[in-house]
Amino acid sequence: MKFFIDTANLSQIKEANELGILDGVTTNPSLMAKEGIKGHEAVFNHYKTICEMVNGDISAEVVSTDFQSIVEEGKKLAAIHSNIVVKVPMIKDGVKAIKWFTDNGIRTNCTLVFSAGQAILAAKAGAAYVSPFIGRIDDSGWDGMQLIEQIATIYAVQGYRTEILAASIRNPNHIIRAAELGADVITSPLESILGLLKHPLTDIGLAKFLEDAKKFA
Ligand code: E4P
Repeated sequence: MKFFIDTANLSQIKEANELGILDGVTTNPSLMAKEGIKGHEAVFNHYKTICEMVNGDISAEVVSTDFQSIVEEGKKLAAIHSNIVVKVPMIKDGVKAIKWFTDNGIRTNCTLVFSAGQAILAAKAGAAYVSPFIGRIDDSGWDGMQLIEQIATIYAVQGYRTEILAASIRNPNHIIRAAELGADVITSPLESILGLLKHPLTDIGLAKFLEDAKKFA
């Protein structure tokens, strides 16, 4: 399972990258705004910087909603770097645009996916990635993990090659469950990735080993 970090924060991207386990980055307009990135040029430069930092797929999201504008915006994003994956929302014109990008050799990440039906459409249009938002589904009282399982089953039965990218991760357990259920990728805030490290018995065990090591130092 690939690990992407879900942020536009450069120091968090650097920290995750230095761990040596990072396979890519996802961003979205809210994450860019959180970092105070404003204006077309600043956004493009920020994507360029991320591409130069991380050797892996970098999702850059379009903010257009009609077919022609999505295509024009996506072409410009894809031209930033060969690792850019154009992130397109699951709307009617988005599906049309994903198909256009597929036919024209531009890889896409279909975002804002909340149902198996939407995941089928993303795969049919040829998206490289489909992003079910598991945390937001949990927040609304449904079970995000059930959706991961359902999409994994459908894609296996149908032989779809679109990779399942579990998004909207809220905690380390989401990452573990996504791995168990067959997600190809998770995209997560740094905190949940680092949360995988933690176990109290590791801390207790290490403290004891270090204490005993002093006896023969
Ligand atoms: C997906 O790529 C999105 O950027 C992201 O995972 C959304 O997560 P949120 O629900 O925490 O905003």
